[in-house]
Amino acid sequence: MSEPGAPRMFEGQVAIVTGGGDGIGRATAEAFAAQGAAVVVADINGEAAQRTAAAITDLGGRALALTVDVSLAADVKSMVDTTVATFGRLDILFNNAGINGFIDARMAEMDEELFDRVLATNLKGVWLGIKYSVPVMTAQGGGCIVNTASTLGLVGQRHSGPYAASKHGVVGLTKTAAMEYGLDNIRVNAVCPGGIETPIAARFKQTFTPQEWRQRNETVYPATARYGLPEEVAQVVLFLCSPAASNIHGVALPVDGGYVAQ
Ligand code: NAI
Repeated sequence: MSEPGAPRMFEGQVAIVTGGGDGIGRATAEAFAAQGAAVVVADINGEAAQRTAAAITDLGGRALALTVDVSLAADVKSMVDTTVATFGRLDILFNNAGINGFIDARMAEMDEELFDRVLATNLKGVWLGIKYSVPVMTAQGGGCIVNTASTLGLVGQRHSGPYAASKHGVVGLTKTAAMEYGLDNIRVNAVCPGGIETPIAARFKQTFTPQEWRQRNETVYPATARYGLPEEVAQVVLFLCSPAASNIHGVALPVDGGYVAQ
């Protein structure tokens, strides 16, 4: 939590973080809570959501864990309804849950099931979050939505057809929602992380020596030669939801060590 006596940026606000059980979502849920927000941690993995919520409440914060599949309209509607029933409002939605769907195949060899699954979670899930949170935010006078896209929402990559399509779609939804709801005082933006050191990536990193890892990343992330950290994405999400970002609408902001600057 922040220094005793220091003003907390999201005091009195309520945030939903989807995919809050692990990785970027967990770091962001904890960062919002540290700044005073009550956080609904929504994840398809209910135990992971519970762990994040417990980490927040153990530090004196307010959190509620929900088991939610963001690709299901009924789950997402219920997530928003339960948030309002529990905490009385909804100020922030971090639409972050996603799956990667990388397989060692080009588009012609991919099967339909993979395409549908990746699009349902990564793209339809984001739309459902917007669909059910906007009426609540509009009724209470405004709010902030941040969607997790990816550098693959801005550029392509081999063997990533469905994922890149889903993340380009997230950028499209973000820009469109920003135009549709800005005058309702709802700001909608996206973050585009590059490789982020989530637990899976951290285990991958352990298979390299520090020198090999740096060498590998020098060409991919020219400005840092390393993966980013979940906390570095979290702080950008908090910024986008803060008053400092009051004139920022519809951006897809890379958090990527210079990957898309090349
Ligand atoms: P992660 O795997 O560490 O965490 C994702 C969380 O989402 C997990 O707890 C998982 O249970 C949950 N989840 C998966 N499907 C869900 C569903 N249908 N409904 C609700 N929850 C679901 O992953 P990470 O890396 O933190 O990813 C978060 C977001 O960041 C994703 O949208 C991902 O595409 C994006 N991203 C991640 C990058 C990275 O290098 N880690 C790079 C660029 C984007």
